[in-house]
Amino acid sequence: MSEAEARRRVEQLCRELAEHDWRYYVLDQPRIDDATYDALLAELRALEQRYPALRRSDSPTQRVGGAVGEPFAARRHGLPMRSLDNVTDAAGFAEFDRRARERSGQPPPLAYTVEPKLDGLAINLHYEQGALAWAATRGDGEQGEDVTANVRTVRAIPLRLRHPEPPAVLEVRGEVFLEIAAFRALNRRLATAGEREFVNPRNAAAGSLRQLDPGVTSSRPLRFLAHGVGQCEPETMLPHWQDEVMALLAACGLPTAPVRQVLGPDDAAAHFADMQRQRARLPYEIDGVVFKLRDRRLHPVLGVAGRAPRWAVAWKFPAEQRTTQVEQVEFQVGRTGVLTPVARLVPVFVGGVTVSNATLHNLDEIERKDVRVGDTVWVRRAGDVIPEIVSVLPEARPPGAQPVEPPSRCPACGGALERVAGEAALRCVNHLGCPAQRREALRHFVSRRALDIEGLGERLIDLLLERDLVRDPADLYALTVTDLAELPRVADKSAANLYAAIARSRQAPLSRLLYGLGIPGVGERTALTLAQWFGDLETLRRADVEALQAVPDVGPVVAQQIVEFFADPHNQAVVERLGSCLHITPAPAPAAQGPLAGKSFVLTGTLAEMTRQQAKARIEAAGGQVTSDVSRRTDYLVAGTAPGGKRRRAEEMGIAILDEAQLQAMLAGQD
Ligand code: IVH
Repeated sequence: MSEAEARRRVEQLCRELAEHDWRYYVLDQPRIDDATYDALLAELRALEQRYPALRRSDSPTQRVGGAVGEPFAARRHGLPMRSLDNVTDAAGFAEFDRRARERSGQPPPLAYTVEPKLDGLAINLHYEQGALAWAATRGDGEQGEDVTANVRTVRAIPLRLRHPEPPAVLEVRGEVFLEIAAFRALNRRLATAGEREFVNPRNAAAGSLRQLDPGVTSSRPLRFLAHGVGQCEPETMLPHWQDEVMALLAACGLPTAPVRQVLGPDDAAAHFADMQRQRARLPYEIDGVVFKLRDRRLHPVLGVAGRAPRWAVAWKFPAEQRTTQVEQVEFQVGRTGVLTPVARLVPVFVGGVTVSNATLHNLDEIERKDVRVGDTVWVRRAGDVIPEIVSVLPEARPPGAQPVEPPSRCPACGGALERVAGEAALRCVNHLGCPAQRREALRHFVSRRALDIEGLGERLIDLLLERDLVRDPADLYALTVTDLAELPRVADKSAANLYAAIARSRQAPLSRLLYGLGIPGVGERTALTLAQWFGDLETLRRADVEALQAVPDVGPVVAQQIVEFFADPHNQAVVERLGSCLHITPAPAPAAQGPLAGKSFVLTGTLAEMTRQQAKARIEAAGGQVTSDVSRRTDYLVAGTAPGGKRRRAEEMGIAILDEAQLQAMLAGQD
């Protein structure tokens, strides 16, 4: 075969294979069997091997292979990716409809499209001249993480649009998700391999898409459904009607979410009820129904409020509830020694996951709900929230069921308990002498937002503790590769990886270390403020209550807790040892220069041009500080719409109040 013939054949094979992918993954109507498909693919692969110059980036052989940057590089979306406001009942929807009519000036009834609200991961597919140029997660809405290499492995996503004259730029918005059956199969596979399972399909999809190895992503049967568009050049290529936009996407070879139309709120409510009935039969999870104004010309008229457009709304399903039985009530010891009552349940599938534990929060809660062992209870789970017991079915209580007695000694170490002042909580006073607290402290120390030691999961931590290889976080840095390789079910390669991950974590930003120490009251944000304020660990360790209270966001209680933490001899020893084995990098000092240097801000209400998160980042980048509450130290209150109590307090205290435009001007250094 001549090179010219090979070129023609390669082109033909690429076209045919893309067609078969579309038939199989999008239309679900394959025309050929797997063996024939594989033969075509093999032929293409052979030709590309012989003539590497003919290998095109949109070739079906090139779905896996692109390298992923680490960490995923940032991508700015062509147009922001918005979120949705929620309503939970017909009255809420009617109110949304009324405002839409008022703002648009349209006579009733308004026409809406109806789509399922898919419970997956939002993705932006950016096509240029018809070819998939990049793909990114939603991120903060303005920019997300580049996950192109992984998205390319999703076979339902065309690498090239099926359109004779595609737009110069087209952004397709949609959800990447796993079907419920695929999620269960994946978890079975992970469990067999001794790896950690995912709690629900959504997390599994997110975890699969954020893999550093596209080979792993390609082994997960991810699906995609488009539900809208972002940037489009020229914009005139988009039809006026939302359902026609969806039809255009389908014609371009994209899988699209099923769309219907309704007129007015009564019709909307009927369709909502209909979707609710269909829900259980769908192969994937949905958590509500999305309504969008059908006439896209009205979208800019209605505009955006905060992060969500006024022309669309999500009508969420109520949190699912199921009944099950309480087998046992146990008390778990957390990182700071506080005991949390947990109900052990007969496993029940609710809200997309199998639930076998539900938190009872504290002793008051047990009493208030009067939960007893043997009781039949309603269990609820909404979104990513921890499952909880809603109520007891008194008629099903077995005779003789006794109220739950609080333990008199720590269930983990047998040590003494104290009552936490002013709270319905018990605490084990044994601190790091208690194995449960040691375990939780370690888990926290290695977690992603703390020292981020990848691969050191619960199972390994338990093993390290059991074998007494590790008692506190500093011990991690004395482990050898051999120590790790000798643990059961740890392959040499994993041991080496883990060792490398521990070594990497020696380079520790002060803020992460402070957070990782698990000082009561010190979350991520306070840790960062403390790191910036004191600059190094030594100065912080020496700070007294008064010095600590001068820090924005640190009140008397937290200041006291910090002092107590560093006064504890055991903590002192651990911190000392960590100090000598870590290379602690100072916190990025709050920019000493910049137009807002030394100024303290509080944000309240909804801003129009930016999210609160963005406003905070910009203020900080300009040298200012953002705190959550108005105090004597506050210089400015930035008030958006619907500001609430902070504005009143600021007014009372005579603090300067800025609107968004004034903030923008200050950020730009004009004030
Ligand atoms: S439209 C401007 N349609 O829900 C409108 N979103 O809570 C933005 N989602 O980030 C999105 N199914 O990831 C739309 N049929 C659907 C959806 C949907 C799921 C997600 C989307 C968005 C989130 C907002």
